[in-house]
Amino acid sequence: MTQRTRAGLLDRPGRTPALAATVAALVAAIVAIVPADAREPAPPVAVVGNAMTGVKDAGPAESTVAGADLCKACHAAQFKAMRESSHRVLFTKDSLDPEQKGCEACHRPSSAHAADPVKIRPQLAFKNNDRAQVNKACLACHRHETLSAFRSNGHGRGNRLDCTACHSVHKPGADRLLKEGEPTTCYRCHPGARAQMNMPSHHPVREGKMKCTGCHNPHGSPSGTRGMLARESVNETCLKCHENIAGPWTFEHAPVAKNCLSCHRPHGSVVNPLLTQQQVTLCVRCHNPNHAGFAARTDTPKSLQRMLAYQSCTHCHPRIHGSDQDHGFTN
Ligand code: HEC
Ligand code: HEC
Ligand code: HEC
Ligand code: HEC
Ligand code: HEC
Ligand code: HEC
Ligand code: HEC
Ligand code: HEC
Ligand code: HEC
Ligand code: HEC
Repeated sequence: MTQRTRAGLLDRPGRTPALAATVAALVAAIVAIVPADAREPAPPVAVVGNAMTGVKDAGPAESTVAGADLCKACHAAQFKAMRESSHRVLFTKDSLDPEQKGCEACHRPSSAHAADPVKIRPQLAFKNNDRAQVNKACLACHRHETLSAFRSNGHGRGNRLDCTACHSVHKPGADRLLKEGEPTTCYRCHPGARAQMNMPSHHPVREGKMKCTGCHNPHGSPSGTRGMLARESVNETCLKCHENIAGPWTFEHAPVAKNCLSCHRPHGSVVNPLLTQQQVTLCVRCHNPNHAGFAARTDTPKSLQRMLAYQSCTHCHPRIHGSDQDHGFTN
């Protein structure tokens, strides 16, 4: 989390004392209205259920800030969990604007609900599967650079997914308020990626040595790269971890500089190491295997060299990603 988010969140001017006093008075009045037993931790919440008819979301006009203490009276479990989560700061930071504080930072000022929970919902109850509404509410605070792209590409485009597809602010099951850890969260919707990660040659996600987010930005690519990649391009993403291949080389291999995926699969492959097809088949897509180079190897009969060529080109061209010594990548 960056300072920018906090700045956006925290730098609002405080309320005037007069207004704060009004709010406090209102809260006191509401507390008085709520029956004492309704404020006990054992909630009528589950009992009342969602089958109620005539229940409506509170409008902004009829609602002011009730304050988290009041919410806590009927929603003790949510309160406790929230106080233990990364969002605790919303409850503990005194200098926050009241509207940016506590439960109502997300559910919006909801005194009307607190006063009559059976008939009136909080302003934002997130009950109508409105993904745009959820994204808007979360992005109001989370607008630093990695999230600002959310709605422009990948998962968030057209509000295809909302934040709660992967996160649960109330019942997280893993770090970063994720419902489940990685890659489980991702596999729920991408079973194909799981199958690829189970192939004989694969990036070690299964072994826990890396995550999907080593290469992908689940919030979309800030630069709009296809595939929501973590960096500007496929190659920059790969070279994040494989610097030794980066060059610059005196003799570059054209397809390497262009796109690693000319020869490699990103997730998994039946061909080692993560190749798109058998090595020789791959090379002869672009090269003649029966080449003049064989003559240079005078110590080995030409026929034997040719035989070797049909097993492995990198036997003689090991510096396949580039070389400073030899334009033929032989060393
Ligand atoms: C007097 C008790 C009481 C207070 C105070 C109270 N609530 Fe509720 N709340 C309820 C009941 C009862 C329900 C209905 C639960 C259900 O439908 O399962 C409910 C439901 C909700 C829901 C879900 C809406 C839905 O339709 O399921 C949210 C969100 C919520 N409350 C937030 C808040 C917030 C935020 C506050 C503080 C501003 C607050 N509540 C204060 C009793 C209360
Ligand atoms: C960071 C934003 C955020 C904060 C803070 C927050 N909520 Fe919620 N709440 C949500 C969202 C989003 C949902 C929709 C369901 C979900 O994704 O968990 C929700 C759902 C609920 C529900 C419906 C039942 C449930 O558990 O799913 C209740 C009740 C509720 N919130 C009460 C509270 C109370 C009480 C507080 C303060 C202690 C609070 N919320 C603070 C975002 C928030
Ligand atoms: C009122 C502002 C505000 C709103 C609205 C808000 N958040 Fe946050 N969120 C915060 C703050 C503050 C933190 C703590 C940042 C820190 O500790 O660096 C945070 C932290 C997080 C984290 C980071 C957890 C971690 O361990 O790094 C996630 C994920 C998150 N919020 C998701 C959400 C989602 C999803 C929503 C909408 C349902 C939401 N937030 C709504 C202010 C907000
Ligand atoms: C497709 C799944 C997915 C969706 C949808 C999603 N996130 Fe995340 N989010 C993740 C994962 C996975 C991480 C952990 C990344 C890591 O560990 O590097 C994360 C991390 C975060 C973090 C903490 C790290 C950071 O980038 O600051 C915040 C805050 C956050 N998400 C907020 C949101 C908000 C707000 C939304 C909705 C606008 C959202 N996320 C939508 C999967 C998702
Ligand atoms: C709730 C379902 C869901 C979850 C969870 C989910 N995704 Fe997705 N993902 C989608 C959908 C829908 C698309 C869009 C598919 C399309 O365009 O055909 C998508 C597309 C993608 C793409 C391709 C984007 C593009 O521009 O082509 C990548 C990469 C991706 N997801 C990675 C992840 C990762 C990594 C995770 C876990 C952090 C994850 N997804 C979790 C539903 C999900
Ligand atoms: C080593 C880097 C890397 C890792 C790790 C990785 N991906 Fe990818 N992924 C890519 C690249 C590169 C693409 C192709 C982008 C393109 O088409 O240009 C891709 C494409 C995708 C797509 C788009 C559809 C497709 O198959 O072409 C999805 C969905 C996806 N990845 C999900 C995942 C999930 C889920 C995980 C974790 C299990 C994961 N990826 C791990 C690099 C990676
Ligand atoms: C987040 C770090 C990371 C990124 C990004 C990454 N890799 Fe890897 N890569 C690894 C790790 C870790 C291994 C396993 C190394 C080992 O086990 O010694 C690996 C192994 C490989 C292997 C050898 C596989 C084998 O079976 O020996 C190839 C080929 C490879 N990566 C290509 C790529 C390509 C292409 C990309 C970009 C699409 C990429 N990598 C992006 C971390 C990464
Ligand atoms: C022209 C095809 C081709 C391209 C393009 C290519 N590679 Fe390779 N790569 C190979 C072959 C063939 C091997 C196996 C070499 C061997 O078996 O001696 C390999 C092996 C690897 C390995 C494992 C062994 C090692 O050298 O560490 C990694 C990692 C790797 N490539 C990463 C990359 C990355 C990252 C890119 C993009 C910058 C890339 N490759 C582009 C053909 C290619
Ligand atoms: C997608 C096409 C493509 C693939 C696949 C490919 N190459 Fe290349 N390769 C090129 C291009 C283009 C050049 C530059 C040709 C030139 O400068 O005349 C080149 C150059 C070379 C050279 C140097 C030629 C010289 O002038 O000295 C060698 C050796 C070579 N490739 C070997 C391989 C091997 C071995 C493989 C398989 C692992 C392979 N290439 C896969 C496109 C490819
Ligand atoms: C027995 C060793 C050997 C094998 C196996 C081999 N090469 Fe070569 N190749 C060479 C030598 C030596 C050169 C000359 C290099 C130089 O001039 O620096 C060469 C040159 C090349 C060139 C440059 C253009 C040319 O025609 O001279 C290309 C392209 C090439 N090889 C591709 C391949 C491919 C593709 C394979 C696998 C099908 C392969 N080589 C297998 C030894 C081999």
